[in-house]
Amino acid sequence: MQVVTDPLALQADCLARRRRGERIGFVPTMGYLHRGHTSLMELARPRCDHLVVSIYVNPLQFGAGEDLDRYPRDPEGDRAACERAGVDCLFMPTDLYPPGHSTRVRVEGLTAGLCGASRPTHFEGVTTVVARLFGLVQPDVAVFGEKDYQQLAVIRRMVRDLAMPIEILGGPLIRDDDGVALSSRNAYLDEDQRRRARSISRALAWLADAVAGGEVDVATLLARARARLDVDRIDYLEIVDPDELQPLARISGPARALAAAWLGRTRLIDNVALVPPSAHR
Ligand code: PAJ
Repeated sequence: MQVVTDPLALQADCLARRRRGERIGFVPTMGYLHRGHTSLMELARPRCDHLVVSIYVNPLQFGAGEDLDRYPRDPEGDRAACERAGVDCLFMPTDLYPPGHSTRVRVEGLTAGLCGASRPTHFEGVTTVVARLFGLVQPDVAVFGEKDYQQLAVIRRMVRDLAMPIEILGGPLIRDDDGVALSSRNAYLDEDQRRRARSISRALAWLADAVAGGEVDVATLLARARARLDVDRIDYLEIVDPDELQPLARISGPARALAAAWLGRTRLIDNVALVPPSAHR
């Protein structure tokens, strides 16, 4: 496995490979890799000749007072995980942006609600870094997890709107044995918080069951699901349409429930597909 730290050296290598006809796959991450991340590498692996994984904790997507300074890091463990996953090139830049970098990429609309409401600059940071990474790697296919469902929708929109010739693939959300969505941020939780974190995935699983059982009234569903959350603060719990992420009043087709909640200083997100009986054949 190649390990590259210089952005322009990475770009030169990827461009040369493309010219030779190699198909490039890409999985961007912020490191502290877990099975959620490696599942995306497994999805990408058979779809490309050259698999690039990036690890970069992107300051642009963290707001003031967020966890940029304490974001967990494990470069040696990450390197081993990438080796095991059959990654060809691990890109770990120390400086990703050139001096004087002043371009921002912003997707409107889709970024207004859900995580965008409490983290107003977050998605602009994500689309800006992903656009730069795409410019460096020039991937044919890039894989993102449904764990960050709104992020996946925003990236798809950016790629469509800017006509980037990249196939975006979504990977399913991977959970721990107790149902908690795998996240690098779970490392912040103490034992009691970790136990209470289960209430998030359980409330969402309850919602999926209730919708499968025929409940269609969103206000009723959300009130009952909220009562199941044992967290310090709910940032949001919403049911939206799966493409435009607009809040629904009634469920008449496939929908998505998304939650963000605080346990102490840790903010966790999770989501689940909702499929009403009418949508089953
Ligand atoms: P990070 O949180 O490290 O996640 C990297 C990728 O792994 C994202 O596509 C995310 O959705 C996916 N992922 C994380 N946990 C997952 C889980 N439990 N199951 C499935 N996929 C999971 O998301 C980012 O980094 C950054 O915003 C990034 C896109 C790299 C831009 O900086």
